[in-house]
Amino acid sequence: MVFETKEITLKNGKTAVLQSPRPEDAAQLIDFIKTSCGETEFLARYPEEWGFLTIEKEEAWAKRFLEAPDALAITCYIDGRVVGNAEINFRGGIKTSHRAVICIAILRDYWGLGIGSAMFEGLLAAAQERGTMLVELEYMEGNERGRRLYEKFGFRIVAEKPNAYRLKDGSMRSEIHMQKYM
Ligand SMILES: CC(C)(COP(=O)(O)OP(=O)(O)OC[C@H]1O[C@@H](n2cnc3c(N)ncnc32)[C@H](O)[C@@H]1OP(=O)(O)O)[C@@H](O)C(=O)NCCC(=O)NCCS
Repeated sequence: MVFETKEITLKNGKTAVLQSPRPEDAAQLIDFIKTSCGETEFLARYPEEWGFLTIEKEEAWAKRFLEAPDALAITCYIDGRVVGNAEINFRGGIKTSHRAVICIAILRDYWGLGIGSAMFEGLLAAAQERGTMLVELEYMEGNERGRRLYEKFGFRIVAEKPNAYRLKDGSMRSEIHMQKYM
């Protein structure tokens, strides 16, 4: 699915561009995911766990979003640099096609500027248009900034899976599950 390119004005007055991730930005996109995973413990992997990524694989990842009928990605570019990415994956199957799953990451320097909110608007509009009934996401215990973003868009906590994550320091974190009815 292609996201129609959109310019937004951030809380700091700068302009950002939201668009589908571009296959030609594969190197930048790899750098983005590794950097973001190193900046916060709230993403599911450590940077070195992305070591398997190659330019070819990342190009294929970006192309898949452009071509797939059941997935949409929105990448945020500022001055041509990738600073954030969000995805919605629509489920298949007779019993589960009413559901979709969202995930999101933004570079730390750009938190709190409204990018997450703008990307959520785009993803939820796509879910609305498709007739999806239920949008879901998971976050790691302690991610209050994430929780506020999700609550602002109407997501509510439905479950908590204790000890779902074990960090390098040995501490354990729950996985919190949220849903939003469209
Ligand atoms: C969580 C994340 C996606 C939020 O995106 P963002 O661009 O920072 O969010 P926004 O600027 O749109 O702010 C959304 C809401 O968060 C809350 N928020 C903003 N700044 C905040 C702060 N300093 N402390 C707590 N909450 C804050 C507000 O409720 C805000 O809504 P408002 O601007 O209408 O008041 C982003 O911080 C991020 O990528 N974090 C690291 C990776 C991550 O946690 N990903 C999610 C994994 S589940």
